[in-house]
Amino acid sequence: MAEDLRETAAWRRLHWHHADIRHLHLRDLLADDPTRGERLTSEAAALSFDYSKHLVTDETLELLRKLAAERELVERIAAMFRGERVNVSEDRPALHVALRMPRSRSVVVDGVDVVKEVHEELDRMGAFAEQVRSGGWTGATGRPIRTVVNLGIGGSDLGPAMAYEALRPYTAHSLAFRFVANVDPADLAGATEGLDPAETLFVVVSKTMSTLETKTNARAAREWLAAAVGDDVSAHLVGVTANMDAAAELGIPPGQVFRMWDWVGGRTSLCSAVGISLAVALGDEGFRELLAGFHAMDEHFASTPLGGNLPAISGLLAVWYRGLFGAQTTAVVPYAHALRVLPAYLQQLEMESLGKGVTEAGEPVTVDTGAIVWGGEGTNAQHAVFQLLHQGATLVPLDLVVFARPTEGPRERHDLLAANAFAQAEALALGRTAEELEDAGVPEQTISHRVMPGNRPTSVLLAERLTPATLGALIAFYEHRVFTQATIWGIDPFDQWGVELGKELAARIAPELDPEWKHELLHDPSTNALIDRYRRVRDAGP
Ligand code: F6P
Repeated sequence: MAEDLRETAAWRRLHWHHADIRHLHLRDLLADDPTRGERLTSEAAALSFDYSKHLVTDETLELLRKLAAERELVERIAAMFRGERVNVSEDRPALHVALRMPRSRSVVVDGVDVVKEVHEELDRMGAFAEQVRSGGWTGATGRPIRTVVNLGIGGSDLGPAMAYEALRPYTAHSLAFRFVANVDPADLAGATEGLDPAETLFVVVSKTMSTLETKTNARAAREWLAAAVGDDVSAHLVGVTANMDAAAELGIPPGQVFRMWDWVGGRTSLCSAVGISLAVALGDEGFRELLAGFHAMDEHFASTPLGGNLPAISGLLAVWYRGLFGAQTTAVVPYAHALRVLPAYLQQLEMESLGKGVTEAGEPVTVDTGAIVWGGEGTNAQHAVFQLLHQGATLVPLDLVVFARPTEGPRERHDLLAANAFAQAEALALGRTAEELEDAGVPEQTISHRVMPGNRPTSVLLAERLTPATLGALIAFYEHRVFTQATIWGIDPFDQWGVELGKELAARIAPELDPEWKHELLHDPSTNALIDRYRRVRDAGP
């Protein structure tokens, strides 16, 4: 395989092809092929993926598949599923797919069957979840737990927080769940407001247990508990980590620590014990339904030819827009209030995975990699930011997520939601021409303002209903879309070295903010002045 993507025959052909077709309009592509809506829709894991409103022809799709073949996508998918060390810069497998394999499967890494270990941990989680749900898990004063507070950040927060909001109708109503990520004291204070410490359980989730925010919040939570129930707060603390020693240092009893493995990345860890607060919320059965949804999409990704492979098609389209159209951002708009945290979740998944400037071999990349991901819930986003999507000068490929039936509430109102999603996709694709406006009697002086260029691509992901299984399939779809892009670009999607320098500097600056700090500041002049100004402003206050 050629190292430099631009040197591959497939990439060159795509460039020529792009020059040929970039003047085509979706209006014509759709008018010329009445079967396009059906032909360019694929289904898997109870999810349909409609990519008929994309700026592609059959030839484009063929060339993208050739590119995937040249970059050995199928072989690399197989390598990931086999447990090969696909996280090259950290020299580890990336085996999130093993977290949701059925008990009957086996993946051996360094002589250990990781699926067996996964199920041992899942069984422990299931038993714990049922104990909390039944009131059998009691706090220091003997009272059952009524609120579970998840303390974690990034992948140790976004997955459980997003999935909890998404699946609320399926959760135990006798229990409350809160999620605290920020080291800003306001976050923990807000989450614990009104709670009775005697009935509160904190789940401290951190793969490394070295994350400043989570450790700080765990200590603050201990103090909050101890002030109410006394020094022995162990019944109120549960841990999830790959670093057992650090969990013990935080005072979490070893029997209450759930295990993670170094081959699970934070942003793909929801199916591990990182999802324990969600497992308590959904119950063991509900959590396993979520895993089954993930697994169904995993199986599809691993075994379906690229022509009908949903995550692969989506990833190849992302490469097409980023590399050939220069699209700098991509957006996702779920038409479901319950999925309002999904854009934030996908931001971490895509941007932490694909925001890379060197290839696996450590050479500078020669094409643009990960796009900026953003989004919001539909229909709210329509009334706030869609103007730019319709008439702005920037191309933003857009994913719309729609469900055919509501989880809660009347069908009629849900239909209004879906109507809006379909209307946006249609308006973005077809636009409105000056002639159409003239025919409609629009005054001439406003016509150019009201012309809608159209030709703006959308995918529509449609499932029958938002359930644990469909949510699992949807997240796995995005995980594998990310893997597809990374494979084409030849980058490592499983590391995140870029976040380290800021953590290091924060650890150095934190003591410098202490009023007792007496040493010289040895940063650059801008940072020195900033720290100095902060201290002056802070200390001048009452
Ligand atoms: O700083 C980035 C990061 O390492 C993410 O990749 C991760 O999800 C998050 O921090 C939390 O890490 P941990 O689970 O180790 O606390």
